Amino acid sequence: MVRKKENTATEVLVEEQRVFRPLPETVVEANITPSEYRKAIKEGERNFVEFWEKAAEELEWFEKWDKVLDDSNPPFYRWFVGAKCNIVYNALDRHIKTFRKNKIAIIWRGEPVGEYRKLTYYELYRQVNKFSNALKSLEIKKGDRIAIYMPNLLQTAIAMLACAKIGAVHMIVHSGFSAHALRERVNDAKARVIITADGVYRNGKIINLKEVVDEAMIECPTVEHVIVVKRSGQPIDMSDGRYLWWDDLMEGASDECETEILDAEHPLYILYTSGTTGKPKGVLHVHGGYMVGIFRTLKWVFDIKETDIYWCTADVGWVTGHSYTIYAPLICGGTTVMYEGHPLWPKPDRMWQIVDEFGVNILYTSPTTIRMLRRFGSELPRRHSLKTLRLLGTVGEPINSEVWIWYYENIGKERCPIMDTWWQTETGMLMITPVPVSLLKPGSTSRPFPGIHVDVVDRNGNPVPVGKSGFLVIKKPWPAMFRTLWGNPKRYKEEYFEVIPGGVYTTGDLARRDEDGYFWIQGRADDVLNIAGYRVGTVEVENVVLSHPAIAEAACIGVPDPIKGETAKIFVVLKNGYLPSDELDRELRQLIMKRLGPVVIIKAVEFVENLPKTKSGKIMKRVLKASELGIDPGDLTTLAD
Ligand code: PRX
Repeated sequence: MVRKKENTATEVLVEEQRVFRPLPETVVEANITPSEYRKAIKEGERNFVEFWEKAAEELEWFEKWDKVLDDSNPPFYRWFVGAKCNIVYNALDRHIKTFRKNKIAIIWRGEPVGEYRKLTYYELYRQVNKFSNALKSLEIKKGDRIAIYMPNLLQTAIAMLACAKIGAVHMIVHSGFSAHALRERVNDAKARVIITADGVYRNGKIINLKEVVDEAMIECPTVEHVIVVKRSGQPIDMSDGRYLWWDDLMEGASDECETEILDAEHPLYILYTSGTTGKPKGVLHVHGGYMVGIFRTLKWVFDIKETDIYWCTADVGWVTGHSYTIYAPLICGGTTVMYEGHPLWPKPDRMWQIVDEFGVNILYTSPTTIRMLRRFGSELPRRHSLKTLRLLGTVGEPINSEVWIWYYENIGKERCPIMDTWWQTETGMLMITPVPVSLLKPGSTSRPFPGIHVDVVDRNGNPVPVGKSGFLVIKKPWPAMFRTLWGNPKRYKEEYFEVIPGGVYTTGDLARRDEDGYFWIQGRADDVLNIAGYRVGTVEVENVVLSHPAIAEAACIGVPDPIKGETAKIFVVLKNGYLPSDELDRELRQLIMKRLGPVVIIKAVEFVENLPKTKSGKIMKRVLKASELGIDPGDLTTLAD
C-alpha cells in the first residue's frame, strides 16, 4: 500500500491508493521490456513520425511510402503517402504462406450451449475469397459501401474482410439498433448492399434481424441487394427479388481472389457514432495508417503471442470489435475468439466457462460487463479455474478502483495485469494505456502510448496544472486516426479541431493528470452520455421525444448507475391539453426503444412544468443535473428564472 495524494478540480482528497507493480514473470515474457518501453516513449516524444515509420516497417506493403506523414493541410492528415497496401493482405494473405496456414484464426462461439466453430487461417482466407467473388458477382466495386447488420457471427468477420479485400467500404450497424437507425446510416453512406441474418441468438431469444431490415428497406433507395445469412433457420419471406441467401451466393463462388492493391489512404470502413447534434457521425478509417496503429498497440499492450488465445468480448458493431476483435489479432497472426451472445446466458458464469473451454490467455472486456458479473459475487468465477489467463483489459468507460481490484483478484487471480485502455471510435487505436510492464494504478488509464502526444488543457488551450481537471486533447496526428466524417469534412474540422485553439484534436473528455504523468479520465465534457460504454447523444434522445405529439420541450441528462455507469433521465414539458400519465411515460420509452434501440437505457421520465433556461432561451441542463445529483449548479447568472 502506498499513500498518495490525489487532486480533483474542486477538492483535494487524500486517499489510500493501491498501486500494482508488474510481476517478474510478466516482465520477463512481455513483448516489450521495460527498457524498450522507456526507449519507445523517448523516441515517440522526439520524433513520432519516425516512431510510426518503424512500426510500419514490420508490416507488408505492395509499395512503400514516399513520405510518412503529410501534414500540409491540417487537420486532413495523410499517412504513408504514396504507399500501396491492403489490410487484408496483412491479416490473411501473408499468414497462409507460413505455418499459420493451419493455425486457428477465429474460434467462434454461438450463444446456444455447445455450439462453436473453429476456422484456420486457410479456411478463413478461402471463405473471404469466395465472399469477395460473391460481392463482385453483384458488381460491387472498389469504394462502394456495404452495410453489415449482424452481431458477432463468423459471416460478419468474413464479410468485413471480403469488403476490405476488394476495396469496398464496410459500414457495420450494431444489431441492437432500430430500423430507423439502420435506415439513417444506410442512406447517409449510400450503401448498395445490406448483409444481415434471418435471426440471431441473444439472451436466449431469437432476434429477427431480417424483419428490422425489411422495415428499414421501405426507404433505402440506394440498396440493390440484401444478403441474408441463415443463422436461426426460422421461416422468413425471401420473395422480394433484392433478397439473396448468403449460402447461394457462396456456392458457386471461386475460392481464388486477388487482393486489391490500394492506396494507403483508401477508405476501409465507416462507423457511425453519436455526437452532440441529433445526426450520427460517420467516422471514416483507412487501410494504411489504421493497420499500423492497431498492430503496434495490440502487440505491445495486449502482448499477443503466437500461442495465445485472445478474446475481446466486444461486438463488431463497435470500434473495439473492428480494431481488436477482428483486424488487429489477425494482423498479429493470433487466434481470436468471437462470441455471438449475451454474457449472462444461460447462466452468469458464461464468460468464465468460455475462458476455461478454450483456454483463453488474454481477455479484453468492458467495465459494465465486469460490474454486471461482479453483482453475482466471487463464487461464480471461483467455480472455474481461469488458470490460462495471463492478461486482462478493459475499455469504454471509467472503471473505479474497487471494480478494478475485484477484476484483478477474482478473475486475474492476482497474476494478470489489467490494461485499462482509453481510446475512441475516432482514434481507431488505443491511445492512453498501460503496457504489461507498467506500474498500474486502479482507475487510471496510465500514460499515453509511445508516439501519442496528449495534454490536459483549459478552454484556451493552455495546459492545466497537475491534478487539475481540464479538456483532454491530442496534439499530434497518429496513424490510425479517422480521416474525416463521411460526407461532412466541415463538421470533422469544426467539431474536433477548432473547439480548442491550436489545432489540437478535442476528445470531448475531461481528464486530469497526476504527478507521475498518469491520466484519470473523468467522463465527457459535452452532451454525450456513456451508457454501458455506448455513446449516446442527449440531443438524439431529445429529438425522438420531441417527435411525440404530446411533448413541447425535452431535456435529457445522464445520471450515474451502479452497473451501466450512466443512464438517461428525461425531463419533459407537455403541450397544452396533455396530462402526465404512466401511459405517456410508457409511450415515450417505447418510442426511444423503437427509434434508437435498446442501448439507450432510460432511468426515468419526469414531467415538469418548465425547464431551466438561459435568458436567451437555451435549456440549462447543467442546472437540471445539479438538482438531480444534489450538487452545486455553478454560475447561475445567465438563468432566466
Ligand atoms: O469517454 C471516453 C470513454 O468512451 C469514449 C469513446 O467512446 P467510443 O467512441 O464509443 O469508443 C469506445 C471504445 C473505444 C471516450 O471518449 N472511454 C473509452 N475508454 C475509456 C473511456 N473512459 C474511461 N476509461 C477508459 N478506459
